[in-house]
Amino acid sequence: MNIQLLNQNISDAKTDITLLYVTEEQLQNSKHKKALKLAGFKAAGDTLCFLHTKNVLACGVDEFSAEAIRSVTTNAIKALLKTNYKSANVAIEDKTLIPALVEGFILGGYIFDKYLSKKEKPTLKNISLIYEKDDYKDAIKIFSDAVIVADATCFTRDLVNTIPEEITPPTLAKVAKKLAKENGLECTVLGEKELQEEKCNSMLAVGRASRHESKLIHLAYKPKNAKKVVSLIGKGLTYDSGGLSLKPGTSMVTMKMDKAGACGVLGMIKAASELKLDVEVHAFIGAVENMIGGDAYKPDDVLTSRSGKTIEVRNTDAEGRLVLCDVLDFAQEKVEADYMFDFATLTGACVVALGQYTTGMMGHSHPLMHKFYDSATASGELVAHLPFNKHLKKQLKSELADICNISNKPYGGSITAGLFLDAFIKEENKDKWLHFDIAGSAYTESPWDCNVYGGTGAGVRLMSDFLKSI
Ligand code: BES
Ligand code: ZN
Ligand code: ZN
Repeated sequence: MNIQLLNQNISDAKTDITLLYVTEEQLQNSKHKKALKLAGFKAAGDTLCFLHTKNVLACGVDEFSAEAIRSVTTNAIKALLKTNYKSANVAIEDKTLIPALVEGFILGGYIFDKYLSKKEKPTLKNISLIYEKDDYKDAIKIFSDAVIVADATCFTRDLVNTIPEEITPPTLAKVAKKLAKENGLECTVLGEKELQEEKCNSMLAVGRASRHESKLIHLAYKPKNAKKVVSLIGKGLTYDSGGLSLKPGTSMVTMKMDKAGACGVLGMIKAASELKLDVEVHAFIGAVENMIGGDAYKPDDVLTSRSGKTIEVRNTDAEGRLVLCDVLDFAQEKVEADYMFDFATLTGACVVALGQYTTGMMGHSHPLMHKFYDSATASGELVAHLPFNKHLKKQLKSELADICNISNKPYGGSITAGLFLDAFIKEENKDKWLHFDIAGSAYTESPWDCNVYGGTGAGVRLMSDFLKSI
């Protein structure tokens, strides 16, 4: 499906069908009022009505907000993909709504059919956004940036959706190398030998029972006049069986998505480089598979992390933090960043706390978190702050080692996981760091907004907006 922005009169546009966005108020003055009324159309949010003989698809909105446009455009593209129209157009009055339209069309129309023996080929080939006004140059910049970010989100979704037999730590490293080659990024991959030299014992323990070698992937986008340096750290559990603290069968299904943090940071650095942002971006990925076997790491083990801190393992299913603590330590030593953000499908508790759609945000800098609230609103992702406190921190105390990998209480699990990571953030970096728990937001089995079944690409739109803003 091709999407373009054209600077022409809507009356000159030659397409099979025109999308008409209407509020109930506008409906009253519409030339299609009679036909739409006959069809029973009410211009409430998210409603659709085809007037096939008039080549019109009416899309109802409550208001002309990005949220409403993105949502109804998602419905519209899903409906259009089932029709035999070859091309569609939509006239745009307000250029600030272009990203919402692009997201609706590209993200809402996203199809992952890799594993279908018969792939359905939609008839719809072209979507034209028609912008009649003079400031077309500004509009085309907004449009192309939005396409870059939406495509990067789909890139992340494709990776998350790919099965764990195909995306293993070594193949994820190959994906990163390919991206580096295509986008002019630097790429270094550490295998288990190098990880041993780096003393990443905590990360290595998690991957020990896997037949796939653990990898630490480092990508860098270094533009000439970078104003800031940002490190992005991603949890890349290509499969999380839970390890010896084995997950129940039903909880294990979907755990291919435990690599969504890693796939997300790949999408973010892809977007940053294609947007040609003047920000230096580093992506650090801990790619590991958490399995069972004779050499699996165990509850009762004590691991010495890269930082030197010792960790008592009481649950091998709390493995993400054991990978991230070494990657965070590595990242802090290798790059002196202005900001450091990690993305991880870290805890089921985050889904309990915030629901399936919202990313949990944790850290020490409230001004920085406020910036992310703005980016969330601007990008259409949902983010909420989960507060640290010193009392929950005490629950990670171990009688045997410096810290325990799980809390001694069954409450506040996403915060205690965040506090575990915090123990590995150097004092001078505390205010530069935020942790994003995307356990709920990274994957969905029921479509919502422009997210269809499977990986959502959580974090890519959010981080792209933040990186643009600094
Ligand atoms: N990958 C899971 C977290 C997860 C759960 C992500 C559900 C997405 C959906 C993580 O490694 C995990 O298993 N965490 C445990 C921690 C517990 C043992 C303290 C959890 O959430 O149960
Ligand atoms: Zn786990
Ligand atoms: Zn996990």
